[in-house]
Amino acid sequence: MNKLKALLVINPIMALLFLALVVTAIFNRVIPYQIYSILHPVLGYSFLFCVLCHIVFNWVWIKANFKISKKADAGKKI
Ligand code: HEM
Repeated sequence: MNKLKALLVINPIMALLFLALVVTAIFNRVIPYQIYSILHPVLGYSFLFCVLCHIVFNWVWIKANFKISKKADAGKKI
């Protein structure tokens, strides 16, 4: 699977995980704590994992747009 295909899968998963995080947080007084204390962190850490993958798979774009490269540094005057 190439980066683009991986992002096509990861991005909607990220959106759903974030939505689920917000929904569980909103209903945290309704959801029994025994369930919340497992469900919310599992969703949260899965979301963080997806964020990390999202950044890694978009690293070329990030580097290009924020000029994080050795070439960009070479032109700088100190
Ligand atoms: C980055 C993703 C997130 C992670 C890793 C995360 C993780 C956690 C953890 C470990 C807890 C403690 C659960 C416990 O008491 O055992 C917690 C509680 C909580 N989180 Fe998150 N969370 C995330 C995102 C969010 C978001 C997006 C919201 C709100 C929109 C939110 C709202 C809350 C609230 C309100 C509590 C306190 C619940 C309570 O004890 O009454 N969290 N979170």
